[in-house]
Amino acid sequence: MQKLEQLYEGKAKKVFKTEDPDQFIIEYKDDATAGNGEKKGTIVGKGVINNKMTATIFKMLEEKGIPTHFIELLSDNEQLVKAVTIFPLEVIIRNTAAGSICKRLPFEEGQALEAPIFEFCYKNDDYGDPVINDNHATALKLATQEELDAIREMTMKINEILKAYFLEKGINLIDFKIEFGKTNDGQIVLADEISPDTCRFWDVNTGEKLDKDRFRRDLGGIEEAYEEMLKRVNG
Ligand code: C5P
Repeated sequence: MQKLEQLYEGKAKKVFKTEDPDQFIIEYKDDATAGNGEKKGTIVGKGVINNKMTATIFKMLEEKGIPTHFIELLSDNEQLVKAVTIFPLEVIIRNTAAGSICKRLPFEEGQALEAPIFEFCYKNDDYGDPVINDNHATALKLATQEELDAIREMTMKINEILKAYFLEKGINLIDFKIEFGKTNDGQIVLADEISPDTCRFWDVNTGEKLDKDRFRRDLGGIEEAYEEMLKRVNG
């Protein structure tokens, strides 16, 4: 499968057209940003790790009945996916309080949440990806109410699957962000990636952070943390 015109370049990935209008190629990059692009850097080997980890997790989710955009790995840092139009929504689930919610609300980092907290954010750098509710999303025509309901239901299922999956690997899934897209034939599928860039992973025994917070908070050992997560997921 040949890469044709580049459709999009984001902070961590590039998306290319292929000769098949129903298929795109995603190339994962080592570039890392934090704080809405204020902090920039490189995490050596990240593109390969996130490409491989996303492939393994999306395949596992498909087997458990979650439709995803993933088709196949093409190389260490490229994968073939279904062509989708991404909903401009960041869908976040929190199982334990950490990150931005501890700045916005009186939660302590590490505080267990009795039930998962679900958030929609409007994916828009100019507005700083604000948290929104269903009314904002439908008023801004980001998705219909039926689409939001479908996305919420799939996300809650994905969280239950991922929590158990990572726990088996000695990882506490603190929170994560996922994105959804619509295929050319109108199916809503899980898209984008699931990786240490988009999840908080804490070791069950030591509490060690094995995710992008090491980069965001200058904790060191970034590459090692990403490699450790790939080892736990891919064996
Ligand atoms: O920063 P915050 O605490 O809101 O992040 C919640 C989760 O969403 C974290 O796992 C973070 O890695 C992920 N996230 C992301 N991309 C963003 C914002 C958050 O992957 N733009």
